[in-house]
Amino acid sequence: MFDRPKGKRADFYTMTDKRITIDYIEYAAVGEMEPLDQELVAAALEARAGSYSPYSKFRVGAALRLVDGTIVKGANQENIAYPSGLCAERTAMFAAGANYPGVAFDTLAVAGGNGAEVCEMPAAPCGACRQVMAEYQKLFDRPLKVILIGTHAIYKFSKVDDILPLIFDSLTLS
Ligand code: THU
Repeated sequence: MFDRPKGKRADFYTMTDKRITIDYIEYAAVGEMEPLDQELVAAALEARAGSYSPYSKFRVGAALRLVDGTIVKGANQENIAYPSGLCAERTAMFAAGANYPGVAFDTLAVAGGNGAEVCEMPAAPCGACRQVMAEYQKLFDRPLKVILIGTHAIYKFSKVDDILPLIFDSLTLS
């Protein structure tokens, strides 16, 4: 990793090399997943139909399962003023927050790809979406599971921390 400054006694410094590891499951096919996850993957793929992506042509669908079993779908919505658009994940999470206030999030599944295709390897959520996932995970004090869908592999993470290490949350502010 980093070199220690030269010419100083090795025991003068307390710096330590650290490593963060993450755990996730990789499935080769959706059929390997538990039935509720299979249903959510199907919903994320369906949600791509709602993508409005005339600029990027990259269609992303998201399906969010709430703890009461409700599935809320989202799809990326673009705008000619590019930053005004919104990703599929935040579209789904904000729709859930607005329509089912106080109902905790359980699992968020995401599928993206060009046009009708879904990426072979899972498309990863952008940093802003990960930050929003972290907010709801903290709000509901409950791990939010994340499923990233590709045609050659599906990844499942048991908590947002695994895709957003060193989370900035309200504890950081207090
Ligand atoms: N997009 C998402 O919807 N989710 C992501 O995680 C990454 C990117 C959208 C934003 C934009 O409409 C298109 O994909 C290309 O970046």
